[in-house]
Amino acid sequence: MAFQLTDVVPWGRTFDEYAAMFALDEVDRSRSILGCSDGPASFNAEALQRNVKVVSADPLYEFSVPQIRKRIADTAPLVAAQIKENAQDFVWNHFKSVDELVAARMKAMQAFLADFNTGLEQGRYVPAQLPDLPFFAGTFDLALCSHYLFLYSEQHDAQFHIEALRELCRVAQEVRIFPLLELSGAPSRHLPEVIDALKAGRLAAEGHRVVGRYLMETRLPRVRCPTLIISPAADPHAHPVAGKVTAAIAGAELVEVPGGMVPFPDQMPEVFAATTLGFLDRIMRR
Ligand SMILES: C[S@@+](CC[C@H](N)C(=O)[O-])C[C@H]1O[C@@H](n2cnc3c(N)ncnc32)[C@H](O)[C@@H]1O
Repeated sequence: MAFQLTDVVPWGRTFDEYAAMFALDEVDRSRSILGCSDGPASFNAEALQRNVKVVSADPLYEFSVPQIRKRIADTAPLVAAQIKENAQDFVWNHFKSVDELVAARMKAMQAFLADFNTGLEQGRYVPAQLPDLPFFAGTFDLALCSHYLFLYSEQHDAQFHIEALRELCRVAQEVRIFPLLELSGAPSRHLPEVIDALKAGRLAAEGHRVVGRYLMETRLPRVRCPTLIISPAADPHAHPVAGKVTAAIAGAELVEVPGGMVPFPDQMPEVFAATTLGFLDRIMRR
């Protein structure tokens, strides 16, 4: 779908904030960096002054300076009012007041606007939209993504996040995302599924299809030993069939683990170990 200027509420952070969010040390600062979803942040403009090599990619860069400036003027007062209303939900260690925060954001966005046309000509700002980036594989040493992925978990599903992260991993050796929270402040609902998918790699779907072709129904009743079925309750594939599998094995025990996904032993090793040890303890006492 075409990106509209009204889709974005421009709100830009500074180089120092990026350095703190992504723990950018001296080695990182000597690497070639992709700032994905940098929008109106002054990260790129300030990086240039510090001799740090940054290319920023964002759909916002389709628009002109006057268009972006107008969008900032239209939305900034609304964002400031919202922050004032919800000030108790923010941590005020870095900025001491809402006014100080808003002033810093406005200053960062002014620095971005002043640098934008030159940076566009120099290829430091590239109009682009996840999950497809116009860069060759391995172009960057490090990709950073601040306040876009995971933050908008309500608007973008797990599949979008998986594709976006695979794309960032394609174009950069290393990827850092901040924060991993949704707008509500809770950890992103997509994190477990995205971590599973990235760990499993691209053939994960084929693995599911292979498992789907097993003739489990005829074979499960042949299991004679004490059996524990651990069902990761948040997994949309495994959990719905756990009851069926348990019923097919004589005497099998079913334990459901809230929040669990496949591969559950990696995700919650302590819970997995405790559940398994508890089961072994029970059968040893029989
Ligand atoms: C909240 S702003 C964050 C700006 C900057 N990273 C910062 O922390 O100051 C979110 C940014 O995500 C960008 N964005 C929206 N859709 C995108 C997409 N599909 N791919 C990449 N960036 C996108 C928006 O244009 C906007 O600039």
